Amino acid sequence: MTDTHDAVSTVSVTVNGNEIEGNVGELLIDACERNGTYIPRFCYHPRMTPVGMCRMCLVEVDTGRGPSLQPSCMLPVSDGMTVDTESELTKKAQDGVLEFLLINHPLDCPVCDKGGECPLQDQTMAFGPGESRFIEEKRHFEKPIAISDTVYLDRERCILCDRCTRFADEVAGDTLIHFMDRGNNTQVNTFPNEPFASYFSGNTVQICPVGALTATPYRFKARPWDLEENLSTAWTDSVGSRITVQSSRNKVLRVLGVDSDSVNWGWLSDKERFAFEALNSAGRITQPLARADADADLASTGWAAAMQTVVDVLTDVDPARVGVIGGARLTNESQYAWSKLAKSVIGTDNVDAQLSDGLPAEVVLGLPRATIADACRPGGTIILVGPDPKEDLGALFLRLRHTVVNDGARLIELTPHRTGLSGIAAHSLHPRPGEVGNLAAALVAARSGVAVDAAGVSADAIAAAAASISGPITVVLGRASLAESSEAVVDAAAALNGLANVSFLSALRRGNVHGAIDAGLAPGLLPGRTTLVDGGDAFTKAWGSIPDAPGLDTAGMLAAAATGDIDVLVLLGADPLSDFPEAAVAEAGLRGAATVIAIDTLPNASVLAHADVVLPAAAATEVDGTFTNLEGRVSVCEQKVTPCGTARADWMIAAQIASRLGADLGIDSPAAARAELAALSSVHGDLTEEALGAAGVEGVLCAGNGSIIAPVANDVTAPINDAYSLRLVATRRMYDAGTTLAHSPSSAGLAASVEVRLNPTDFDKLGVSSGSLVKLTSSKGELMAPVVADLGVPVGSAAIPTNSPDANANRLIDASQSVTDVRVERS
Ligand code: SF4
Ligand code: SF4
Ligand code: FES
Repeated sequence: MTDTHDAVSTVSVTVNGNEIEGNVGELLIDACERNGTYIPRFCYHPRMTPVGMCRMCLVEVDTGRGPSLQPSCMLPVSDGMTVDTESELTKKAQDGVLEFLLINHPLDCPVCDKGGECPLQDQTMAFGPGESRFIEEKRHFEKPIAISDTVYLDRERCILCDRCTRFADEVAGDTLIHFMDRGNNTQVNTFPNEPFASYFSGNTVQICPVGALTATPYRFKARPWDLEENLSTAWTDSVGSRITVQSSRNKVLRVLGVDSDSVNWGWLSDKERFAFEALNSAGRITQPLARADADADLASTGWAAAMQTVVDVLTDVDPARVGVIGGARLTNESQYAWSKLAKSVIGTDNVDAQLSDGLPAEVVLGLPRATIADACRPGGTIILVGPDPKEDLGALFLRLRHTVVNDGARLIELTPHRTGLSGIAAHSLHPRPGEVGNLAAALVAARSGVAVDAAGVSADAIAAAAASISGPITVVLGRASLAESSEAVVDAAAALNGLANVSFLSALRRGNVHGAIDAGLAPGLLPGRTTLVDGGDAFTKAWGSIPDAPGLDTAGMLAAAATGDIDVLVLLGADPLSDFPEAAVAEAGLRGAATVIAIDTLPNASVLAHADVVLPAAAATEVDGTFTNLEGRVSVCEQKVTPCGTARADWMIAAQIASRLGADLGIDSPAAARAELAALSSVHGDLTEEALGAAGVEGVLCAGNGSIIAPVANDVTAPINDAYSLRLVATRRMYDAGTTLAHSPSSAGLAASVEVRLNPTDFDKLGVSSGSLVKLTSSKGELMAPVVADLGVPVGSAAIPTNSPDANANRLIDASQSVTDVRVERS
């Protein structure tokens, strides 16, 4: 009977004699589960289109035309429907399906990674025939075969449920794994000589209902009943995907995605999923290190000696001659502790969690903020001014892709070249490097009927893109290219902020960078999205003192260290040599500082080359705390294993340094730091222990701009390019020579060699062809790379990845300029 209170949205269904309420459009399998009746299934996955492949969910249904078996994953509930999930007919169907699936299924359970958490095992026990009538030889395949560096396929175990293939096709858009052959010979496989090279391949392992797909890092490592798990948050990028961290014998062995409606829908990028390997690496920094003299190698020392060195260099130092670079690796609580240490105890405002490779913190905080759900509103418009989400923010890419493909959202890209979303974008506009601000302004003007050519994009293309904007607008905003200054992006943001009904979703990528900005790890800012001026009185009262004036950002600190104006650089999980846009500036700064103190989990290039003293930090799975994602959503990170060696939590290191400097930081636990932040910050007031506990996987959204106001335009003008040079576009890839990846055995080989991608139209002018080895020369340096033809790169641009294993594009970039030009010559 129809619900009289809400006739439109609910219907009444009788399940096993009990009346339940279903939502209109809801699938019967979901309505039953929501009301406590579990129907077995293999192929159905709530985040993918149902296909009715396996028939395991057959139940007896009567819609008024007599009872019949129907797949409940394909059948929306209807009013008056009568369902029997336990009838003889249903049980016979379940029996038959399982017997059929097991005809060819191997008896691998004792050596199968899925054993103990296997739906086929479980459902055979619960719903199966009990014994097999088949004595014939089973089908055999070579087992297992590696279909990528991280995934193995055992075709004998596959039950052809179409989950992995649907995920690759529908969700990731990487159509690399398919069904092949027909009938009894049907198998799932990749194309010959084409590996399953998807950034999201680990999701197929997680959703495979059997042990057909297994992940290299977990194969034969543990049995499910040996594992303990915690709910936590992924730490490798700023999406804040919810995860479970599973360990055995005090070692993290697996990370699985958790379905959070607001954030990642259960999906993870492979980087989020497999990065835990680095935390188990033998390369971890397990005890303090120091150099006997400037030319000596780093050698182990004790905590007392290392701390004494740190305190000696920080005692009585002029605060203006100290700089703190980094902090995005830390939890919110550790970031708060370090912010208080730096800005109050040491007294310096030279603090920057970004490495001048992102956007000014005021831009991230001052614009009207959007959530991922805002960006993914059906019928809305997404304007991408930033990096390729597929490379930088994998789980966000999957959410954006879903909404554009399925929910009628329009995507307009204002990016320096094609991205992983270009294939589904309504309009892909590629401005000349350094001119995205002009293009954004032209797009806004075109909304008023004034369309002109801008940034190398035709007026017609701009007008067409402007005309397609409708519904709520979300600008996904970040720094697409390290070879362009952030000023052009700020100009674009200021222009787009003039559109009606617009909000902004930050695309800064590095770990907990948004938590760091919220904690005040940026020059001129204090915790709680406020400035030294606006928050001055409250923080002076709470902390005792704060810096008088805004300090330097990373570029400023490195430059000051190079000229002898900064003595002490603290690298708080930072690697300027690899990540700062201009290698020479990073090198000169680190070389110029009298003392470099590093607090880190793994030894990166900057630590190895320049740190004088290194303190080992506990990693993300070794500490309690919280993480703030790109929406401002705070979610829990829970300690799963004990810290490696003698490593300590970053907040603890800050508190101990403060104590040795004669100050009491007043922080003796993550909860104490969180409570202090909540008490002082206007945007963290709701961040109570109760709220965090109640929010569960969704986390607590700390919305609002605090006291920060929207940025104004810089009106930057890129210089005219000369006829012999190309304009450099330097972008990040998911897999690069970063320290985490280098210490992750399964994924380390995925970092691709350097290459320069050029539009073939430029080939004749340059005398090169695809595969040519060329020399790129800028005012800062040179670099050799093979050429790859790419029609997605505009004519006149040269696109190169940053931080490749064999060469880093930051040796070419002039970070003091709005753009960098390069000569490209055949070698
Ligand atoms: Fe056993 Fe499940 Fe593995 Fe098949 S997939 S061998 S049923 S544990
Ligand atoms: Fe399904 Fe697993 Fe086979 Fe893919 S490999 S079709 S997920 S059983
Ligand atoms: Fe319904 Fe497979 S779960 S057919």
